[in-house]
Amino acid sequence: MDQNELKKQVAKAALEYVEVGTIVGVGTGSTANYFIDALADIKGKLEGTVASSVASADRLRGHGIPVMDLNAAGELSIYVDGADESTKHLHLIKGGGGALTREKIVAGAAKKFICIADESKLVDVLGAFPLPIEVIPMARSFVAREMTKRGGTPVLRENFTTDNGNLILDIHNLKIMDPVSLEHELNDIPGIVTVGIFAIRPADVLLLGTKDGVKTLT
Ligand code: 5RP
Repeated sequence: MDQNELKKQVAKAALEYVEVGTIVGVGTGSTANYFIDALADIKGKLEGTVASSVASADRLRGHGIPVMDLNAAGELSIYVDGADESTKHLHLIKGGGGALTREKIVAGAAKKFICIADESKLVDVLGAFPLPIEVIPMARSFVAREMTKRGGTPVLRENFTTDNGNLILDIHNLKIMDPVSLEHELNDIPGIVTVGIFAIRPADVLLLGTKDGVKTLT
């Protein structure tokens, strides 16, 4: 089974967590896209969805699935999204697709965060995948210097603007031994909008697509 088949398999498995008549938060990326495609089969059972990006909202609407504004939706039953890396403690790096800010908001508004990923995403220590950080444009160089002081190598994501009109710095060469405290520390740097560490609010369930079937970590 190739990586896309593993992603498809795990996306389908997430349907088990969808509760009839509720509003579902939907993530961004290729694994989340497979979830959106799977969701289309049960769209009549949903009250609606809240999307974490313009791209996901467009894909949901393309399937005829209702997309709501988070302010109108209130609390969501679940949030389903992929990840760039996850530890066995369900601490994540996210933001490879640049949607980390809305992803963190929608995850925060959900009772349960179901992370869906193929087995290559499970790591012992976060940081081999460059950590995405969304920054206000005027803070770009300041935040880059702050990350260099912390041992990282910041690289500006070229020709990319987030759905919120901001920039992404991808921070290479970090070994994130304590994701919760690094997330707290970076949250305090002025100009950082969102850090791609999801550890203060980790996933509640990690569905991992493997060659031997879907494994569930909690
Ligand atoms: C987007 C994300 C994605 O969830 C993450 O990049 C994983 O993507 P994919 O499912 O394509 O491997 O955080 O901002």
